[in-house]
Amino acid sequence: MQQDLAGLRAKWPHKLLVKGVLSARDAVRVMDAGADGIIVSNHGGRQLDRTPATLDVLPSVREAVGPEATVILDGGIRHGQDVIAAIASGADAAMAGRAYLYGLMAGGERGVERAIEILRMEYQRGLQLIGLDTTSKISRDHLQTASSTFAASHY
Ligand SMILES: Cc1cc2nc3c(=O)[nH]c(=O)nc-3n(C[C@H](O)[C@H](O)[C@H](O)COP(=O)(O)O)c2cc1C
Repeated sequence: MQQDLAGLRAKWPHKLLVKGVLSARDAVRVMDAGADGIIVSNHGGRQLDRTPATLDVLPSVREAVGPEATVILDGGIRHGQDVIAAIASGADAAMAGRAYLYGLMAGGERGVERAIEILRMEYQRGLQLIGLDTTSKISRDHLQTASSTFAASHY
């Protein structure tokens, strides 16, 4: 895998992101082979059941590759607030597959535009509800995980 990627890197002078990474170890290998960044993805979980949820592995991937690498979360984005959760967990951005396809099925091109509008509106409203006016202010402090809820209820 690393040799193939190094070959691609040698031929492609532009940004090179690798999609399908699901572990911190693979993320480091991909970056060592010369990629500019990573798309944390299980390709929508459509082939192999029981792959990890991308949101769950994202924090460890970000920690492994450091702040400079581009890290994009892919999979499971159904609501604008899912994008906020992705950014709070270490992503620079998020990608959606089925969310816009549902819009396409419902209303063609106009349906895709509407799906994107809805995601954007939910995202902006989500930011307002947590008291933020810009994406760059989203941080890990805005996450409430099951373990932090547990900790809060016990201490
Ligand atoms: C109908 C369909 C076809 C897809 N084909 C490909 C593909 O050929 N290659 C690929 O890397 N991912 C493919 N994907 C996965 C998407 O690129 C994306 O990773 C996934 O849909 C993200 O998850 P989400 O649907 O939960 O947003 C496909 C997804 C769907 C729904």
